[in-house]
Amino acid sequence: MIKVDLSGAAGFWGDKGPDWAECEKAHRTLAERSGAGADFTGWLELPDRMLSGELPRIEAAAARIRSKGDALVVVGIGGSYLGARAAWDLLGRKGDGVELLFAGTGLSSLAVRDTLERLGDRDFCVNVVSKSGTTLEPAVGFRIFKDLLIRKYGEKEASERIFATTDARRGALKSAADAAGWESFVVPDDVGGRYSVLSAVGLLPLAAAGQDVRAMVIAAKKALADMDLRSEENPCWQYASARQALYRSGKTVEILACYEPRFRMMAEWWKQLYGESEGKQGLGIFPASVEYNADLHSMGQYIQDGPRFLMETVVSFARESASCAVPADAANVDGLNYLAGRDLTEIAAVARAAVKEAHIQGGVPNISVEVSAMDETGFAELVVFFELSCAISGYMQGVNPFDQPGVEAYKKLMFKGLEAWK
Ligand code: PA5
Repeated sequence: MIKVDLSGAAGFWGDKGPDWAECEKAHRTLAERSGAGADFTGWLELPDRMLSGELPRIEAAAARIRSKGDALVVVGIGGSYLGARAAWDLLGRKGDGVELLFAGTGLSSLAVRDTLERLGDRDFCVNVVSKSGTTLEPAVGFRIFKDLLIRKYGEKEASERIFATTDARRGALKSAADAAGWESFVVPDDVGGRYSVLSAVGLLPLAAAGQDVRAMVIAAKKALADMDLRSEENPCWQYASARQALYRSGKTVEILACYEPRFRMMAEWWKQLYGESEGKQGLGIFPASVEYNADLHSMGQYIQDGPRFLMETVVSFARESASCAVPADAANVDGLNYLAGRDLTEIAAVARAAVKEAHIQGGVPNISVEVSAMDETGFAELVVFFELSCAISGYMQGVNPFDQPGVEAYKKLMFKGLEAWK
């Protein structure tokens, strides 16, 4: 279970601390499906639906992907990309799992060339993920990798190497998948992109990478039940209400920090979740992220000493995944022989405590979030924790946490600019 520690934040919100009554109301609104965007709360039931629905087919397709090569190109953007990418970076591949390569996240020729070079002449499959089927970046990326598959394997074999994750009934990608016979999986109607990682959107690539997605889904189901607790003991209540209390006391930027470099893309997933859910109607905490210790030597100055509108949420893992001791050195030029034999983990714990104290002294409130371990269960718990907290926090803020009207603005202007080539 996730543990939240608010002791480093309590000194910053004055008399107006967490509003538990407001938190309870927001949670009830979410659970009763009575708030704005209620049509997009299907993620609350995703584990049950996956267990009684697509999961066996996902596992079978993943086994076929593994038998056909050692790479899977996952084409998608935003909510159709970040969850799988975050889990891939955090958990990596297991056993005979394939390497995941990502495409369709932009319009950079250089990035496409780099992916093609990393793919080399390896055998591969493609998983195109797009709920609408019309998002420009992944649509163009898919063309490139579909074309490569056809040139390499011919039409028939290529169509057995393409897996489409899209709307159950509608859209350009669904029509193309049906016409060409690509195996397809569903992005549920009532689940928005940023809440979709525990559907086929994330589970198919992660299963292909060898991760135990069944364990992940079972852990998510348990986490959803545990975090339905309606009390101040609920870690989601603690996180959501602390964020809102700090926001109301002028802390308008939240930095998500972690001391594990593998967490970097998890922070990117978190940024989309909170940025798209809360940043609207002129409101919202700006979600930013840092990677420690590296960023202590760059952003550390600003965090310690810049304008005081920051709050800091630090994620740590209770069980270490690796160990590495500091060796003794005969010359001891750096004078660090007193650390010889100590594990990096022990030194990191001292560094973490020092940073927390220094940042609090510097006027940056600290919220600590502890996850059990960096594995399938820990990932699932973290996803459920951040999703539930986000929905509750969004309702506390008075916005619809499930829409993203602002994302359309650039698309309209871009397609207007492209019209000349029609
Ligand atoms: O959260 C969202 O809705 C967005 O990030 C979408 O997931 C993203 O724009 C991709 O859309 P689509 O899956 O329709 O290609």
